Amino acid sequence: MILQKANALKGEITVPGDKSISHRAVMLGALAEGITEITHFLGGADCLSTIRCFQNMGISIEKDPSGGRVVVSGRGLYGLKQPADALDVGNSGTTMRLMSGILCGQPFSATVTGDDSIKKRPMDRIITPLTRMGADIKSIGNNGCAPLSIKGRKGALHGIPYQSPVASAQVKSAVLLAGLYGDGPTSVTEPYVSRNHTELMLRMLGADIRNQGTTATILPEPRLRGAKITVPGDISSAAYFIAAGLIIPGSKILIKDVGINPTRDGILRVCRQMGAQIEIENIRNTDSEAVGDILVRHSELKGTKIDGSLIPTLIDELPVIAVMACFAKGKTVIKDAAELKVKESNRIDVMVRNLSLMGAKATATEDGMIIDGGKSLKGGIIDSKLDHRIAMSFAIAALAAEGETEILKAECIDISYPGFYWDLKGLIRS
Ligand code: S3P
Repeated sequence: MILQKANALKGEITVPGDKSISHRAVMLGALAEGITEITHFLGGADCLSTIRCFQNMGISIEKDPSGGRVVVSGRGLYGLKQPADALDVGNSGTTMRLMSGILCGQPFSATVTGDDSIKKRPMDRIITPLTRMGADIKSIGNNGCAPLSIKGRKGALHGIPYQSPVASAQVKSAVLLAGLYGDGPTSVTEPYVSRNHTELMLRMLGADIRNQGTTATILPEPRLRGAKITVPGDISSAAYFIAAGLIIPGSKILIKDVGINPTRDGILRVCRQMGAQIEIENIRNTDSEAVGDILVRHSELKGTKIDGSLIPTLIDELPVIAVMACFAKGKTVIKDAAELKVKESNRIDVMVRNLSLMGAKATATEDGMIIDGGKSLKGGIIDSKLDHRIAMSFAIAALAAEGETEILKAECIDISYPGFYWDLKGLIRS
């Protein structure tokens, strides 16, 4: 993908459905009884992997041609069937970790695998708590990574209190979903609160699940009932347009129907800290999730500090926040974000390397990065490392940089935002 410096971005946009919520709607719809009708489902490659895995376990899932409407015919907590082959999650960490939690409680065995990237990401973070619950789950290569072998056993799981060393919604959700099949309550306590979409959706479908401080607790064997679920726009996708609107002079963008769940809205808080002109309008609830329209205008930004409990609320937005920081006056310090190293790529290394290549002053640290902003960027050749969030972040950097930028393996954006480049082009004014 080749991009040039842009003059201004103007107009209105609706971003695709939230990736985290789309995954959960299919998985929980499969475990509920009856029909779950999902609208504004994200038709990105990751969520299609989730659909395929559950279809391979005997769940009927129908998609209309545009992909935005998906109908799941749920078969209840014990309605899944043993898959004929290994379940392939592709690039999707959410599918692998959440589905593994579910598989531990099933009366059959399964193998879970995926692409080269997912086979390098840590799975010991779910193997440890699930094993403690009595599950038989192993890394086949004995390296703490996928492929995983899960020998499900009905009635074998115990409810446990689990103290997670990381603030990770994927870990929390894997344990809570296994907790559906436990012999007593299961709770997960995290260092900081991570996104709570699993808890909100499970509660909506009929589970007894509570959040108190940094602890989520679920009671086993609920009767889940299918429901209509409207997926809000993904704030992680909106983040690219927020950043573009803020850093490109003359821009004004209205991003409609975006999920602004407080466990996900850290980018909005950081934008305000940086002095951004950003307004949230028309705030409302769809199902159990908060939604609003986000209006951004070009702003003079200043550097800021991002750390602690803020990190899990914007973890996927840090690459594009790092781009914003290059256009802010002064220093931006990102810390407590070592999790960035175990995403689809090592996002600390890849961001710092590519930003430096474009002329930014960026330094990697053990658990984040430091950016001295205020210098102009120049175009260059950027390797996305097949990481969708890296490709999209540098598309935004490219629009604000001098000259031309080429993004390699740019098509990896299909993971979370097919159509991203077209949507971006539609806002560029000459
Ligand atoms: C996700 C949780 C986050 C996030 C990922 C999606 C989820 O990962 O980075 O893109 O849907 O639960 P961690 O739970 O590993 O932090």
